[in-house]
Amino acid sequence: MWPSTFCAWLILARVWVFIPLPARSMQPPDQNMTEMTQMFQDFMIQYNKSYKSPEEMHHRFKVFEQNLKASRELQASELGTAQYGVTQFSDLTESEFKTMFGIPQPIEPPIVNRLAKSPKAQNPPSSCDWRKFGAITEVKKQGSCRSCWAFAAASNIEALWNIHRHSPRNVSVQELVDCTSHGCSGGYVWDAFLTVINRSGLSSSKLYPYAGKDQRCQQYRRRQVTGIEGYEILPREERDLAEIVASQGPITVLFNMKALQQYKNGVIWRTSQDCSKEHLDHFALVVGYGQVPKQHESPAKQYWIIQNSWGKRWGEKGYFRLHRGDNTCGVAMFAVTAVVKNLGARSEARVLCPR
Ligand SMILES: *[C@@H]1O[C@H](CO)[C@@H](O)[C@H](O)[C@H]1NC(C)=O
Ligand SMILES: *[C@@H]1O[C@H](CO)[C@@H](O)[C@H](O)[C@H]1NC(C)=O
Ligand SMILES: *[C@@H]1O[C@H](CO)[C@@H](O)[C@H](O)[C@H]1NC(C)=O
Ligand SMILES: *[C@@H]1O[C@H](CO)[C@@H](O)[C@H](O)[C@H]1NC(C)=O
Repeated sequence: MWPSTFCAWLILARVWVFIPLPARSMQPPDQNMTEMTQMFQDFMIQYNKSYKSPEEMHHRFKVFEQNLKASRELQASELGTAQYGVTQFSDLTESEFKTMFGIPQPIEPPIVNRLAKSPKAQNPPSSCDWRKFGAITEVKKQGSCRSCWAFAAASNIEALWNIHRHSPRNVSVQELVDCTSHGCSGGYVWDAFLTVINRSGLSSSKLYPYAGKDQRCQQYRRRQVTGIEGYEILPREERDLAEIVASQGPITVLFNMKALQQYKNGVIWRTSQDCSKEHLDHFALVVGYGQVPKQHESPAKQYWIIQNSWGKRWGEKGYFRLHRGDNTCGVAMFAVTAVVKNLGARSEARVLCPR
């Protein structure tokens, strides 16, 4: 740690020179600026950041300052329990963040291989967490490829194989990226499922590892394949979705990722004014749901538990929670899941989601 601390100090000493004149006039540097510089230094160390030149560093320092301001604004208008602040993305402008991780606005997904009717909403249990079943594979990191859709689809398939076939699998996300149109420029979960169907299943991630960039679609012979029976476009009612998660397993969702750049932990709950339900740019995997108990006057807050693909150092160990019940950030608009059946069983054994 010592050398990098030292290095950051040296670079920061140089940033100081670039701080505009008013801030470094005759008086000692303003308390405020010292604090900000300290925070930026801590950020650089914590996330192992380095910049090509003092100019670049100065620019990133300004962006960092802007992001802190944005996170305070988010905090002030937060309806849930989310905390916003410094994250690994605090040196990216909002538009850089969108360009790196966002996907293009979707059109309606094609409805094919619609196998089963969605269950009639019974009373879903009050909470459900498939992580406790050991069904969820580890949090992954997409890197600088806009492949959230491929990660969400792969983790959905892996979870369903665990739950319905009791067979742990790590499937190839790179195969989805390489063999689906758009690849790293951003695609859709339903196209990923069509690719899986078209290829009669995916190779393992060991055989076809993640590269985080577009490559030629590989055809491996005698690969072990992990297939699906189809996919389902799910209803837009969050109550129905909870019932489906509890009775079938994790599902993928598409939503507006606006609040995620500055997110640290807690339950995100935004109004539709500051998190549009129409601008949907990120896919992730719902692994369960729950509620924050009633406190004094404030009512119980219901939420979704969602696995992201930005590594374990982001959010709540790679997960985040989003308010459930009023289609926050458009989360209920395009819920989709693969269909994986227990082919051996005479009738589908009922699997219970752990609370
Ligand atoms: C710096 O000062 C400005 C204006 O006085 C204030 O709005 C801001 O919150 C301060 N920043 C920090 C990090 O305290
Ligand atoms: C920090 O970043 C440098 C260069 O960007 C890299 O060589 C090094 O391995 C990183 N260290 C850690 C602990 O991630
Ligand atoms: C999947 O990957 C994880 C993490 O690398 C590993 O621990 C696990 O054993 C793998 N599972 C299979 C079935 O290969
Ligand atoms: C997969 O897609 C290709 C190209 O679109 C098509 O030619 C091929 O017939 C499809 N294969 C299957 C098994 O559907």
